[in-house]
Amino acid sequence: MRFPDTRTKPRARSIGVLAAAVACALGTGTLVDTTTTATAATTPAGGESTAQQARVDNPYEGAEVYVNPDWSAKAAAEPGGDAVANEPTGVWMDRIAAIEGTPGARGLRAHLDEAVRQAGGDPLVFQLVIYNLPGRDCSALASNGELGPEEIGRYKHDYIDPIADILDDPAYSDLRIVTTVEIDSLPNLVTNVTPRETAMPLCDEMKANGNYVEGVGYALNRLGDIPNVYNYVDAGHHGWIGWENNFGASAEIFYEAATTAGATPSDVHGFITNTANYSALEEPHFDVGDTVNGTPVRQSSWVDWNQFVDELSFAQGFRDRLVQQGFDSDIGMLIDTSRNGWGGSERPSGPGPMTTVDTYVDEGKVDRRIHLGNWCNQAGAGLGERPTAGPEPGIDAYVWMKPPGESDGASEEIPNDEGKGFDRMCDPTYEGNALNQYQPSGALPDAPISGHWFSAQFQELLANAYPPL
Ligand code: BGC
Repeated sequence: MRFPDTRTKPRARSIGVLAAAVACALGTGTLVDTTTTATAATTPAGGESTAQQARVDNPYEGAEVYVNPDWSAKAAAEPGGDAVANEPTGVWMDRIAAIEGTPGARGLRAHLDEAVRQAGGDPLVFQLVIYNLPGRDCSALASNGELGPEEIGRYKHDYIDPIADILDDPAYSDLRIVTTVEIDSLPNLVTNVTPRETAMPLCDEMKANGNYVEGVGYALNRLGDIPNVYNYVDAGHHGWIGWENNFGASAEIFYEAATTAGATPSDVHGFITNTANYSALEEPHFDVGDTVNGTPVRQSSWVDWNQFVDELSFAQGFRDRLVQQGFDSDIGMLIDTSRNGWGGSERPSGPGPMTTVDTYVDEGKVDRRIHLGNWCNQAGAGLGERPTAGPEPGIDAYVWMKPPGESDGASEEIPNDEGKGFDRMCDPTYEGNALNQYQPSGALPDAPISGHWFSAQFQELLANAYPPL
């Protein structure tokens, strides 16, 4: 061990490697991504040319993953938090100021310098969340951002360009930089626009002005030019785009973004699902193809005709659809398992009674949300699978992109200078809207604004962890 005192000096965390066998099973056993094998020569400031390493097929394979010391310190300060304080979590660039650093959160260069130290010369993945689109989070208010709908110029030149310049520094060329690109953006242009019942004025606007598509394309192109950057586009989760009318249309809009503003599909290394969401990784007690007394499970009110009942099957199915759309056949998926554990004493130990499809599903499902569309600080949730490389075919890694313990949104209006609004889906007394079919929000009370530390939620995530800690 390089750093004996892991509490005060986080060390990069090895997340286990199962990928080689998996890659072979998938028929993608080559370790090198054939789309990006060309050795890129760069000329660093000193003038001498160095050979950059080619991208590998799965950046998590054989690598450790960066532990964010700022998150780690908060987790370690909680009772019981030591059990997970050395897990790797995503570093979120959620506003322009985050690049230089904000109170309590170091800036991008400081993170990368620390990452080089944690790497100690070995392969290391650095997980960076790109999250600052104009008109951000158009269907909700809790994570609205600083840029107005038309501020695509600031997005490109004050946000993406400086990030790209830093990532391109030869000092960081040995890191494997995984970027997850624009959470909760493009599928909104499919699901939350006119003439859908769930249409939102800001989503209509972002579809009409094209700035989500343009911004994502620009980010993919700029970041994809850096040989050690691995772009993963955010692909929602099964409880959002798992329905037939959202699934293909989302793949199409991802492809459109990946061919806009200079981007090409080879700028996309893969996709990430379930970022900052709560969808169960696997429902062990029922399957989408099951029937009860001849009635298909898809007809239950929980499943509601979705084509998937859990995140692993969705990620694998969507991967196939994306390849069919024109993305490279060796793209890999990431699944955010930071808060989809659903353990604790209320976790069902077997299938529900086969009285009706609803009893069978409701009493057997491990995802204990009131409605699949609930997304804010969900009561009863636990930490999910610990970060793991290559856990299943087609999956590059389970990751903790959303840092557990950071709020999804305030449960009441709290003035702030981060552009964050108050979304009633974070209010435990709210009775819902068309997005969750007018069900209660299921949110925990007394939550701070999104991104701020929420101790009570962290404690519940520890208690309900699955697998248990
Ligand atoms: C917030 C961001 C925060 C991120 C990670 C998002 O919901 O809007 O500000 O960095 O969560 O916690």
